[in-house]
Amino acid sequence: MLRFRSSGSVSFQDVWGNYLQISVSSSDTKKYNYHKILVVRGEIVAWDDIPESAVEIANSLLQTLKQKDPFTFYHCCRVGRASRRLAKAMDLNVYEQAILEYSGLFHDLGKISVPDEILLKPARLTKEEYEIMKSHPIKSVEILQPLEHIPFFRFLQPGVKYHHEKYDGTGYPYGLAGEKIPLTARIIAVVDTVDAMMNTRPYREGLPWDVVKQELVDFSGRQFDPSIVKVYLESVGTWADIEEQDQDEVVVAQVLREAA
Ligand SMILES: [Fe+2]
Repeated sequence: MLRFRSSGSVSFQDVWGNYLQISVSSSDTKKYNYHKILVVRGEIVAWDDIPESAVEIANSLLQTLKQKDPFTFYHCCRVGRASRRLAKAMDLNVYEQAILEYSGLFHDLGKISVPDEILLKPARLTKEEYEIMKSHPIKSVEILQPLEHIPFFRFLQPGVKYHHEKYDGTGYPYGLAGEKIPLTARIIAVVDTVDAMMNTRPYREGLPWDVVKQELVDFSGRQFDPSIVKVYLESVGTWADIEEQDQDEVVVAQVLREAA
């Protein structure tokens, strides 16, 4: 959350949970339009630093996923949108909300590299097949790596790479635990799991909201960050009111328009 402590000094908590403080010279403030200044991991970036081509890049990457597996494509769109809503409910700033929206959108891109007979299998996966499926977060990051010279795209990597880590350290690919899991990934983990539970697959029916809600409560502190589950459950009931109305939601709306 971006805050001003005194004139020329900015402090905030970045998407990795670090508190940072920087001094801003008057020339910087002119250049960056003061209130939009952000530093992420010691690097000055600005709200305006979301490249203009970001939406086109997202559209292009997501089209490939849509051709491979429309179900995963629409899942990514829902997770992108819900990740931004949850980031907003957590009082993250607009730049961080955009990072969450794009990270959610790209989190399962790596499923492009999973063979069709596994990705589209209309039944539960075998142990061996599941091991192959588990490679997808790393594959997602590999697809984004050619863009990592652009700060905005580099900041998408943690959420994408670690979205299957669990709060108690039993997730994959690295078994990270607690706050060692980047905040973006802990946010995506909640909305990703909710979306997966609520939607019907060929081998199981989608679960009703009451059951999903209970699962979130039961797995809070085990699979999920309890503070994020708390904000999610407190705020999700109001999200329908802002459906399709949020001016900040640019990329998911455009990707869906392109796909229609
Ligand atoms: Fe995933």
